[in-house]
Amino acid sequence: MKDESATARGKWANLDAAMAASTSKTIRRLFDEDPSRAERFSVEAAGWLLDYSKNRVDDAAMKALVKLAEQSDLKAEIEKMFTGEKINRTENRAVLHTALRNCDPAAKVFVDGEDVMPGVRSVLAKMGDFSDRVRKGLWRGFTGRRIKYVVNIGIGGSDLGPVMANLALTPYAKRGMKFFFVSNVDPTHLAETLKAVKPAETLFIVASKTFTTQETMSNAAAARDWLVSGLGDRAAVAKHFVAVSTAAAEVAAFGIDTGNMFGFWDWVGGRYSLPSAIGLSLMIAVGRSNYAKFLKGYWKMDRHFRTAKFDRNMPVLMALLGILYSNGYGAETYCCLPYDQYLARFPAYLQQMDMESNGKSVRRGGTPAGYATGPIEWGEPGTNGQHSFYQLIHQGTHLIPCDFIGCCKTHNPVGDMHDKLMANLFAQTEALAFGKSAEECRAEGVPEELVPFRTFEGNRPTNTLLCRELTPGTLGALIALYEHKVFVQGVILDIYSFDQWGVQLGKVLAKGVLSDLTAEKPSGAHDSSTNRLIARYRAAVGR
Ligand code: F6P
Repeated sequence: MKDESATARGKWANLDAAMAASTSKTIRRLFDEDPSRAERFSVEAAGWLLDYSKNRVDDAAMKALVKLAEQSDLKAEIEKMFTGEKINRTENRAVLHTALRNCDPAAKVFVDGEDVMPGVRSVLAKMGDFSDRVRKGLWRGFTGRRIKYVVNIGIGGSDLGPVMANLALTPYAKRGMKFFFVSNVDPTHLAETLKAVKPAETLFIVASKTFTTQETMSNAAAARDWLVSGLGDRAAVAKHFVAVSTAAAEVAAFGIDTGNMFGFWDWVGGRYSLPSAIGLSLMIAVGRSNYAKFLKGYWKMDRHFRTAKFDRNMPVLMALLGILYSNGYGAETYCCLPYDQYLARFPAYLQQMDMESNGKSVRRGGTPAGYATGPIEWGEPGTNGQHSFYQLIHQGTHLIPCDFIGCCKTHNPVGDMHDKLMANLFAQTEALAFGKSAEECRAEGVPEELVPFRTFEGNRPTNTLLCRELTPGTLGALIALYEHKVFVQGVILDIYSFDQWGVQLGKVLAKGVLSDLTAEKPSGAHDSSTNRLIARYRAAVGR
């Protein structure tokens, strides 16, 4: 640990203590010695059970990890976030996604002396009114036809959340309507989408916090051209385009009536913006009452996070275990394995949430971190992953902590298929934790020369998250759980989790490269590799 200040050394000494306890016993031994382990190493909150007993921790390790959180001033940092302090210091902004789902009708949350809650409620009411009208066929297209297709145009936080949640809540979505999500500046994404929809029946939601993002603005302009040419009148835009943004002037400049704009605020980070107006496509899909339940789920987890003691606090516990593996054991990646096809995009959503938040290498004081910060997040739904990459998790040389996520009830009961799905989930955590020893292999009659290959070391850590059913409420709570986990890790790692300067350089350079791809004569101002690639491209497209 290259973190030299005395306070930091004291704080990180807790990780050393946690490691000393953690490395002294295997998970198998921990279970042998404590029959009540599963019960004691479990917590429940907002409809979710977290069983973290299959981790390399005992009471001493957990105690030391909780101390690490305490000595990072976590309690005070949580309060700063919830109460609107400008904790996004490099952008001088508050971080208040929790205000978006604060369901207490009397709640007040202040930023710069102004209560933000009336604004939050008023946008929600406007979204509710609009989505009711679309769903009931009262909001019609330019030619008077009902809206059948909704196309959300956005990228990053203005896309991944809506995509993930719309898929997750498919069983609650309005029949007869179809939802599409266009993000990539690759024209194929829009072109293929437009083949599936009809101009007279399509509503475009242009979702962009800044309303300047290259991909989104290019797609929105192309969609607008397609609509105008399909309906033969520029006035049609007013009935087929709405905007979700913080930037009213840019929305107006694009040609969308700001009366059809759903606002949010600079204190909502893009990757935390799903419960803001960015969730409009979801609200149209599932209706305002399900959307309210979705927000309530977030809120339940928010309250748990703000009030529960750290040793019973689900996001805090998950964050601490993550830090034990990344900074204690040197695990570089973290795997999310939802055993629910409706959560297929959840790992991709987590990637932005975690990696854009904690993928930093500079501490809050401006000095190099010198230790591992946010992990590489990845994952796929089970059971599919079992037939591709689980081999490496079971027997490879990398330590990969995994979260298994499952729901006890399925929305689609077919024979015993859901039992099979869940059996696989539980069995995988068992296999990872306990493995199979050489003796067990021999006892099964495995030939001696194959024993090394058929042995499973085990001691692979997993969390299991279980809910009764995937509902709007449990989905909201699950998202909030991970948001707060990432927040806690940012606090302990002493980094700023709510900016994303690392995405800027590529964006700026792409502008220069674009002009060299299209100009009459390229500048030749790049390195020799980039200059050559530009020349090759220009030659191929005949420039
Ligand atoms: O490039 C990264 C990013 O700024 C994300 O943080 C954000 O979610 C995404 O781009 C989209 O930004 P916007 O909503 O402003 O179009």
